[in-house]
Amino acid sequence: MPIYFDHNATTPLEPRVLEAMQPYLTGPYGNPSSVHRYGRAARDAVEAARAQVAALAGAQAGEVVWTSGGTESNNLALKGATAAAAATRVLYGATEHPSVLESAESLAARGWQVETIAVGADGLVDWPAFAAQLARAPLCIAALMAANNETGVIQDVARAGALVHGAGALLLSDAVQAAGKIPLDFAASGADLMSLSAHKLYGPKGVGALLVKAGVELVPLLHGGGQEHGLRGGTENVAAIVGFGAAAELAQQELEARAETLLALRRRLEAGLAALPGAAIFARDAARLPNTVQFGLRGWEGEALLMALDRRGIAVSSGSACSSGKGQPSHVLLGMGLPRDVAFGAIRVSLGKDNTAAEVDRFLAVLGELRLAAAA
Ligand SMILES: Cc1ncc(COP(=O)(O)O)c(C=O)c1O
Repeated sequence: MPIYFDHNATTPLEPRVLEAMQPYLTGPYGNPSSVHRYGRAARDAVEAARAQVAALAGAQAGEVVWTSGGTESNNLALKGATAAAAATRVLYGATEHPSVLESAESLAARGWQVETIAVGADGLVDWPAFAAQLARAPLCIAALMAANNETGVIQDVARAGALVHGAGALLLSDAVQAAGKIPLDFAASGADLMSLSAHKLYGPKGVGALLVKAGVELVPLLHGGGQEHGLRGGTENVAAIVGFGAAAELAQQELEARAETLLALRRRLEAGLAALPGAAIFARDAARLPNTVQFGLRGWEGEALLMALDRRGIAVSSGSACSSGKGQPSHVLLGMGLPRDVAFGAIRVSLGKDNTAAEVDRFLAVLGELRLAAAA
């Protein structure tokens, strides 16, 4: 049986989510902006989903803006906030997802002062350096992810929020990987903007949300018919939004049980890796998502190990899905100060709610065989 260990790249659509979406894919539902009964039915479904997503994230329904996913949410937050601001300085964490760092770098090309926030070897923010950086010049917005997609490292967003607000700026937190895996509380998080994506929590691809606190000014990326309070024009993807809502509700109901299962599997995997000569877990001692382990195996380059595992029916990732296959070591590990050759060796296992202990054991057995093959 093939083994899927790449849930941080994407998760399978949960059958209960598909069931919730089905009527909106095939039924006689209208445009949510239409005033007739078909339109009103679609509007009701979109608003019910908004409440479900808000509940998962500890937000108000009115703070949820639908987007096409985490990438658009991060783009809208950074480009939207900077377009509406007077200060011309942006900071982002050294281990952020490319949708944050490329958005920020696109501003650099337009004359904005863009700097990275340094992290230590454990992937966590270097707080004294960050505080000094904040004091240096006026800031518009800083971006610090809730949890990293490669290492699973969980950042102290509330601490960052206090510092960033002290500097009179906004904080964006990319919670795409955190949502559904650890509790989220947008109200108390310290973030003014928070990104979410449905396909990382057993919902459909191509739908996400940006949570926006009241009073935060954004210039939209998409101008159109005034949907989403003018923040995101375009007819809503009703079925996908309904799916996101259903997935969020299930994630909220099952959060503790899922996290417990995942943590038990992660611990089993980590114990197996600790017994494997030449295996080293990255950011091992930092607080991490219950489902994520990134490690290197001496003698193996990450891409080669990924392919060897794929031939044996096991799907993992080398670094992030977005940067793998590019022949570049993970910027996350380089940002943490790891040497290039070590970063090149990275393999990420991201477990899912339906994985089993037997799958973890099989993976460890295959790794053991591959290690011996490499040593021979
Ligand atoms: C941390 C993080 N942010 C943003 C994204 C982008 O989300 P989407 O695939 O919905 O555009 C991802 C996806 O890999 C991610 O892991």
